[in-house]
Amino acid sequence: MSTRFWPQPRRYEKKAANAIRDALVSPRTLKLDGPVLDYLNSKGSREVEAQRALREESDRHLHGNMRSSAEQIALLGFLIETIDARSVLEVGCFTGYGTLGMALAVPPDGKIVSLDVNEDWAAIGRRYWEEAGVAERIEFRAGLALESMDRLLDEGRLFDLVYVDADKKSYPAYYARALKLVRQGGIVALDNMLRNGGVADPDDTTRQTAAIRELTASIREDPAVAMCLTPVGDGLMLVRKRIPSSA
Ligand SMILES: C[S@@+](CC[C@H](N)C(=O)[O-])C[C@H]1O[C@@H](n2cnc3c(N)ncnc32)[C@H](O)[C@@H]1O
Repeated sequence: MSTRFWPQPRRYEKKAANAIRDALVSPRTLKLDGPVLDYLNSKGSREVEAQRALREESDRHLHGNMRSSAEQIALLGFLIETIDARSVLEVGCFTGYGTLGMALAVPPDGKIVSLDVNEDWAAIGRRYWEEAGVAERIEFRAGLALESMDRLLDEGRLFDLVYVDADKKSYPAYYARALKLVRQGGIVALDNMLRNGGVADPDDTTRQTAAIRELTASIREDPAVAMCLTPVGDGLMLVRKRIPSSA
């Protein structure tokens, strides 16, 4: 019997795989690794050469795992453009990969203030900030972040977006200050709000994870903000400081 009208097995298998993929598209977030992550990073956003080079240098650093993920910074850059942010505060600079992405997203007269205790790590980033032509948009402040944030409050500074990405036990204190430092309608973004799954693990009783769980609960209960915990990176919490209605 001729098999001319029957699908060839390989073609059939391919069709079946596509049908299964179509049926699986939606209700859950994809697990991101391997080729899918490569595709996302190479096709899903626009990383310039200086960003790529800084990302790779950061990854060779002893503490390279502290770098923000490329997709996280792409999302923050998109949000910066969406809300027309001109002033951004970053709490936790490390090698300045996030700083660079956000500096590229603000307009030429925009400003990023980035805080860190470690000046040497920020110096790595400065070379790439200069290469990308955005170094004048970036003000790095060395010192303990809580003290630097208090100083910014004393100076009466107000930001369109605050990105919190430093030591986790201090997150509640950072968030309290960030809410004061962000304008109405502005955004506070907090990294590591899933703690690599630790927030959902009852055996994880560390001080850091407890602080993150408590903070998540208090943000969720606060009607003064809109909130969404996204599975981007290690859990990027997005908070919008609502504009009180005048009614
Ligand atoms: C996760 S890394 C920041 C990553 C960075 N946002 C990026 O985009 O790659 C955390 C940084 O917070 C800094 N840090 C930790 N505790 C701090 C503190 N109390 N005050 C200021 N910086 C602190 C560390 O030195 C480290 O560079």
